[in-house]
Amino acid sequence: MTYVMSMRCSAQAGRTGLARRVVARLKNKVAIVTGAGSIGPGWGNGKAVAALFAREGAHVIAADRDIRAAEETAKIILDEGGLCTVVEVDVTNAASVAAMTKAVLDMHGRVDILHNNVGATGQLGGPIDVSEEDWDQTFTINAKSIYLTCNAILPAMLKAERGSIINVSSIAAIRYTGIPYVSYAASKAAVLQFTQSVALQYAAKGIRCNALLPGLIDTPMVHAQLTGHYGDKEGMLDRRNATSPTGKMGDAWDVAYAALYLASDEARYVNGTSLIVDGGLTAGIGPPA
Ligand SMILES: NC(=O)c1ccc[n+]([C@@H]2O[C@H](COP(=O)([O-])OP(=O)(O)OC[C@H]3O[C@@H](n4cnc5c(N)ncnc54)[C@H](O)[C@@H]3O)[C@@H](O)[C@H]2O)c1
Repeated sequence: MTYVMSMRCSAQAGRTGLARRVVARLKNKVAIVTGAGSIGPGWGNGKAVAALFAREGAHVIAADRDIRAAEETAKIILDEGGLCTVVEVDVTNAASVAAMTKAVLDMHGRVDILHNNVGATGQLGGPIDVSEEDWDQTFTINAKSIYLTCNAILPAMLKAERGSIINVSSIAAIRYTGIPYVSYAASKAAVLQFTQSVALQYAAKGIRCNALLPGLIDTPMVHAQLTGHYGDKEGMLDRRNATSPTGKMGDAWDVAYAALYLASDEARYVNGTSLIVDGGLTAGIGPPA
């Protein structure tokens, strides 16, 4: 069952910084952000995207299977004077995605922005290490979920003759990162071609579809899922910082500002592209020989 909680805030006074802005970049847009909560304390990519979209005037649908995580994001947005509705959804489940879509369309009549953020690393290893079950699960959460949300939401976008879809992939889709996560890398690569197919099929119908490829980003997910590979947390942070050409990992806001551009009308002629947010990591060949 889909749980929907609508939370509107009438007070504009707390809309930090917006008073000085001439135009909010997503004014009056309805934006679904999947995985808008965070699996740990701090700012995950989806949480930062949701908060930033709201700061720029969007009515954000914070969609997450963890309702409490989504509510935390919604509270931040509402405290800032933004607009947010929380929807419980499992994006790997067609019925759940259909229920979310119906709830949003019943409420707003349209979806302007679909930000497909949900993703997971799956098991560490190559094809002889990961289980068939892990392969299937990782493809389901990273790739099938995006098919399901597009399957449900694209008809409404086509009817409105407008929409921006942003699919979160990873630099692991285009480079071997040195850490074998074969199901993650392959499923994130699938996201790229899915993105191009959608982008080109519907370009003349007012739909844009782009991929975001974060690099080494310091988010709660990294702390929760990757520490095992690096041995300990400090070692992980040191190595990930050292691997970045800037000497420091990116953070969720770096991803969020890139998503904001793709979501906004400023990117109206940007379609089918892969926007890499990695401090230049994939432009180089790695550490000096
Ligand atoms: N952090 C990095 O270094 C990095 C690098 C490349 C790509 N990425 C990508 O960024 C995205 C993750 O961003 P995040 O920091 O917001 O992640 P996160 O792990 O904090 O997850 C955000 C939310 O997704 C929700 N979620 C998980 N499965 C779900 C499901 N089936 N249905 C609905 N909600 C679900 C969780 O409950 C959580 O609240 C992923 O797609 C990931 O692959 C991250």
